[in-house]
Amino acid sequence: MTLTLRYMRMEDVPQVITIDRLSFDPPWSARSYAYEVTESSYSHMVVLEQSREDKPARGLRRLVKNLNPQPPGENVIVAYGGLWHIADEAHISTIATHPDSRGRGYGEIVLAGMVRRALLLKASYIVLEVRVSNVAAQSLYAKYEFHTVDVKPRYYHNNGEDAYDMRLDLTDPERQARIHQRFAELQSKSPFVDLYSAAPPPRGQN
Ligand SMILES: CC(C)(COP(=O)(O)OP(=O)(O)OC[C@H]1O[C@@H](n2cnc3c(N)ncnc32)[C@H](O)[C@@H]1OP(=O)(O)O)[C@@H](O)C(=O)NCCC(=O)NCCS
Repeated sequence: MTLTLRYMRMEDVPQVITIDRLSFDPPWSARSYAYEVTESSYSHMVVLEQSREDKPARGLRRLVKNLNPQPPGENVIVAYGGLWHIADEAHISTIATHPDSRGRGYGEIVLAGMVRRALLLKASYIVLEVRVSNVAAQSLYAKYEFHTVDVKPRYYHNNGEDAYDMRLDLTDPERQARIHQRFAELQSKSPFVDLYSAAPPPRGQN
């Protein structure tokens, strides 16, 4: 099994909206993802993809595989995220892991990738909003040194819940070094191929 962190593509959108619908109320539409992936000049959408079959099947595995051929597209999106970059601000617009794959470090890989991407895009800071009840996400953000700077009252329309406004300053050289170091440590702890954090954007994004 190989994990690959890479820019989101149009063909990923059906899997991404499945995860989105299982994770958010209200979810984003397929059209919103299509816009982010194909048109927005500020958007750096990311997926973490798991490829199920690395080596050609041999022996008994090959026989079983031939008896039960899998449909094309064996790669599965396990987590995804959205980063906007405008001038010196970066904004984490979304992040989710498929409910069946939570607690395995995938959300952390996506977040670490977006933080490193923002740094390499020369953003000065990253902001995001999170529900006050969303302890799991807050804990993930705190691990990456985000801190709460404000509360946005009744920010979420579906239930009137408040949001914490969280922020990570990227200008401190020591923090910048920690971000790169943490990313390298994560990559050696849970190996993944990184085609995102330092890659040239696929279109003319800022
Ligand atoms: C938040 C979310 C993306 C985390 O993804 P994940 O893949 O399960 O997280 P990971 O396994 O990578 O965990 C990384 C860190 O997140 C935090 N975390 C994850 N699940 C947690 C939980 N159930 N309780 C508390 N902290 C949790 C921990 O800090 C954890 O680090 P640790 O393993 O060293 O304790 C996932 O819970 C999710 O998709 N939630 C629904 C969508 C959502 O709320 N997105 C955030 C919008 S602001």
